[in-house]
Amino acid sequence: MEKLKIAIIGAGQIARKSHITNYQALKGVEVIAVCDTNLEAAASTAEEFHISKYFGNHVEMLEATKPDAVSVCVPNKYHCSITCDALERGCHVLCEKPPAITMEEAKKMDRTAREYNRLLTYGFHFRYGNNVKKLKKKIDNRDFGDIYGARVQWIRRRGIPGWGNFTNKTLQGGGPLIDIGAHMLDLAVYLMDYPVIDYVCATSHDKIGKNGGTGLMGTWDAKKFTVEDGLFGFIKFKNGASINLETSFTLNMKEKDIRNVQLFGDKLGATLFPLELYGEDEHQQINISYPFDDEKDLYLSEVENFVNACLGKEELLVTSQQAVYIQTLICTLYDSANTGRPIML
Ligand SMILES: NC(=O)c1ccc[n+]([C@@H]2O[C@H](COP(=O)([O-])OP(=O)(O)OC[C@H]3O[C@@H](n4cnc5c(N)ncnc54)[C@H](O)[C@@H]3O)[C@@H](O)[C@H]2O)c1
Repeated sequence: MEKLKIAIIGAGQIARKSHITNYQALKGVEVIAVCDTNLEAAASTAEEFHISKYFGNHVEMLEATKPDAVSVCVPNKYHCSITCDALERGCHVLCEKPPAITMEEAKKMDRTAREYNRLLTYGFHFRYGNNVKKLKKKIDNRDFGDIYGARVQWIRRRGIPGWGNFTNKTLQGGGPLIDIGAHMLDLAVYLMDYPVIDYVCATSHDKIGKNGGTGLMGTWDAKKFTVEDGLFGFIKFKNGASINLETSFTLNMKEKDIRNVQLFGDKLGATLFPLELYGEDEHQQINISYPFDDEKDLYLSEVENFVNACLGKEELLVTSQQAVYIQTLICTLYDSANTGRPIML
């Protein structure tokens, strides 16, 4: 049987660490080409991973090699245009997260995928965790009753990345909210089954990053720090439920890093990292934990789901409609923080 032909767009950190390595770990898949506007990066990646063709331009690559599917691993600013170029040329697309920078872009990507009848998914790899799968099943089974509250956190003490473009607002669209908070927010709304949004309220701060410094993720350059340090938000849904969100690259706090989603239902509550459930048994409080978990690499599971969906063997776990919802939340939280006002949807 012919192999599924994959091409990689953007030969940076995530393409090398996750996408290429994981495609190459799967049977029936071949990475046939890689491109990067930095031709040297494309050439060295092709050499390192034994990929036969490399290019400096994605359209040229798509037209010359006609892949079945692509991974889009470029800065957020280019997600929409490159994803649409690939979909329009008949490719299924696994685009890195966040979906895009604006809501209009995420909607356009979703529309284009439907118009060209191609698959489009995003790199929200935490979705593939056993903790999330287990919780989702219990929630769908109504074990939690009504989930009316959530606490969503990804906060770091001094976790400003000293590499990459994560502090560059023009290329990434924002800082911790669009980069790390988005992962946890995606999990929370997936588990809460995308309730209709009522209003969103947020504040953002830029008190520490702008001074430059060295932290737990290297040394960052004050002149290149153009994003928020952190954002605190509140999301109210029409069904009465709400989310409290805290996300930051840098806060003066005790821990190095807190990454978690807590869910509060009227029958059970849960914390995700690590998975633990909280409830009552004959008027006694009980905790249920899962100490032994044989977790597979989440990035591998993401790539595997995409490949299997391309081969018609399974459904995508992360859909482009869900991506429009998460992009709406991200953009509305930023809008509220920038205008200093709650925003009704
Ligand atoms: N899933 C995750 O947890 C996770 C982790 C890290 C990064 N990401 C996402 O992956 C994407 C890439 O991040 P990265 O850390 O690999 O960045 P990176 O800077 O290491 O790599 C990006 C590469 O894209 C290339 N590029 C830029 N514009 C291009 C274009 N128009 N065509 C082709 N190549 C182009 C750059 O030259 C660079 O080599 C971002 O969207 C980021 O948010 C996701």
